[in-house]
Formats: sequence, C-alpha cells, structure tokens
Amino acid sequence: MKLLVCGGAGFIGSNFARVRLREHGDEVVVLDKLTYAGRRENVQDMAGDPRFSFLQGAIEDREAVGEAMEGCEAVVNFAAETHVDRSIAEPDAFVTTHALGTYVLLEAARERGLRYVQVSTDEVYGSIEDGSFTEESPLQPSSPYSATKTGADLLVASYHHTYGMETLICRGSNNYGPYQYPEKLIPLMILNAVHGDPLPVYGDGMQVRNWIYVEDFGRGIGHALDAGAAGEIYNVGGPDECANIDVVRRILDLTGASDDLIEHVTDRPGHDRRYSLSSDKIRALGWEPRVFFAEGLEATVRWYRDNAWWWEPIRSGDFRAYYERQYGRRLA
Ligand code: NAD
Ligand code: TYD
Repeated sequence: MKLLVCGGAGFIGSNFARVRLREHGDEVVVLDKLTYAGRRENVQDMAGDPRFSFLQGAIEDREAVGEAMEGCEAVVNFAAETHVDRSIAEPDAFVTTHALGTYVLLEAARERGLRYVQVSTDEVYGSIEDGSFTEESPLQPSSPYSATKTGADLLVASYHHTYGMETLICRGSNNYGPYQYPEKLIPLMILNAVHGDPLPVYGDGMQVRNWIYVEDFGRGIGHALDAGAAGEIYNVGGPDECANIDVVRRILDLTGASDDLIEHVTDRPGHDRRYSLSSDKIRALGWEPRVFFAEGLEATVRWYRDNAWWWEPIRSGDFRAYYERQYGRRLA
C-alpha cells in the first residue's frame, strides 16, 4: 500500500513509518511542516529507502496536500501540535492545525477517494477517577490541546456520516520511546536526570497516565487501517498505568541519579488527574501491546543514553528558551 503519513517527522509518525516499512513493505510518503517538534533526523535512517519519500509542507496547505497525495491509497494523520503546556501558553497553532488542517486533509482525501485515519488521543475523554474510557464515553476535553483534537475527531466523524467517506479514528494513550521531543514527561526526566538537573514534578505527582510503547501504538493504528471498519473509533491503550512520581522514581533508578533531584513545582492549570483506556474493541480485531512499561522504559532510557547526537542540538537550541519560560520561575 502507498501511504501518506502526515506529521511523519514527529515522534509517533516517524516510528509508525519505520514499522510500516519494516513489517508491511508499504510505500511511505511523509508530509510534515517541520515545526520545532518535527525533525529530519527522525526519518534520516529511512531516507535512503526507495519506498520512502519526504515533502515539507503544512496539512492546511491545499497545494502541498494535493501533491503529497499523488498515487496514495490512504492517509494517516499524525500532524498536530501536541504539548498540553504549550496549548495553555499559546493556543493559536493548535486551532489552525487541528481544525483547518484536518479539514483540508479530509476534503483532499474525499476528492480522491482515499481511506483516512485520524490519530487522536485519550485526552478527548477528559479525566477519569475509576475504571476506563470506552469508545462510547462522552467527550469532555480539558485543555486547548484536547479540545481542538476533539473538534478534529468530530469533523472526521462527520465526513463518514455525511459523505460516506472511509474514515477511522484511533485514540491512543500516553506514548513513550525513542525520538520523543524532550518537552514531554519521560524524555525530559531522563535527560534532566542524566545531567543532574532538577526533575520538575507538577503538584503532588499522583496524576496517573496509561503508558504505551510507541511501536505498539503504531502497530495498533496500522491494525485499524488494515482491519478496522469504516466510520469506527478504536481506543489503543497501553498495558500499564503509573503515577507520575513513580515514573520519575523508576527513571532515577535506571539512570542511577539521586532522589534529591525531585522538585515538586506549581501544578499545570486544569491538570487531568487520570487517563485510562479500554482497548477491548481493537483487541477483538487481534491487536495487543507487546511491550510492558518496565521493559519499554529501560529501552527508552538506553536509547537516550546512546543517542546524544539526537538530543544535544535540541537541548542547546530553542528548547532552552522554552525551558526557561516554562520552568525558570517554578524551579527558582
Ligand atoms: P510530535 O509533536 O512529536 O509530532 C507532531 C508532528 O506534526 C511534527 O513532526 C510536526 O512538525 C508536525 N506538524 C505539526 N503541525 C503541522 C502542520 N500544520 N502540518 C504538517 N505537519 C505538522 O507529536 P507526536 O507525539 O508524535 O503525536 C503525533 C499524533 O499522535 C498527534 O496527533 C497527537 O495528538 C497524537 N497522540 C500523541 C500521544 C503522545 O503521547 N505523544 C498520545 C496519543 C495521541
Ligand atoms: P506530558 O508528557 O506533558 O503528557 P500529557 O500532559 O499529554 O499527559 O505529561 C505527562 C504527565 O506528567 C502529566 O500529568 C503532566 C506531568 N508532567 C510533570 O509533572 N512535569 C513535567 O515537567 C511535565 C512535562 C509533565
């Protein structure tokens, strides 16, 4: 199959492209705007493969999208602004990419009769104290990130309902693994621990996330694309839940850094307490996660330790200004 992977130079999209080339023999076209989070380094190991091509462009740009879709049979849309903290500070790009971008992609895919997969998040359901969200749970997003992702999901669903377009929505839980930009909890804590910098834990650190190894999420999305029914939503959640403070403690153990680096800082406004997904529906199609958190976290710590070439330019570039804005006062 020839696939258009939008946002394929980001964390999950690049891992997805790698899995599809390696395990399915697909052709992959990546369309990516290359925001701060999109990096050519994330796809450089695939660049020499004749089945892989890369186009720089935004999903809200009709011309770029038209060019990228040439000869493709399906689109998988990972392109997004993805950091909740940035959505609280500067929501603009979240609205443009998630609302306008998704609309432009849907229109172009509809014109050409392509199958369309929207990559979404458990955050559209909001926070849950007990139990797990199913695909039928009400949508109660809390942040500008999750609210705009929810808007995109509803638009995608409307294209199936109104035009009979072959759409699918995959809602993932928190991903971790290689190539994740170090603004997110796990890579931030690994790199701070390795450098002996403070580990900023928001509030009491008892917020719970449902962790999925990035290749497992990629395989889940691929499974929905290959075997899912048009118009359906599939939750793709990880096998383990863990409180943030325990994630941080495990990282300290794996890096050999001291507990004294932990600093509880002012909480994120509107912070969701717990996410938990039921993935029974996609499991019934034959998908299951292969990697448990203990093993995946160890592999992830090893990857960051072995790949300083990847994160050094990030840590010494624009990321420093972001870090100072986000944490400077809280850690002072
Ligand atoms: P990321 O921030 O690492 O990558 C996003 C990619 O999208 C980047 O390469 C960026 O350049 C590109 N992009 C952004 N705006 C664009 C635009 N307008 N046009 C074209 N490209 C654009 O994010 P990620 O963690 O890989 O997330 C990928 C998708 O998975 C997102 O849709 C996100 O909502 C969803 N998701 C993420 C998680 C998670 O834990 N990271 C969990 C569930 C779902
Ligand atoms: P994050 O990786 O931003 O993902 P999300 O907000 O989409 O779940 O954060 C994961 C959890 O870690 C979340 O509860 C916020 C918390 N967190 C911290 O405690 N400190 C930090 O520096 C960061 C980035 C996140």
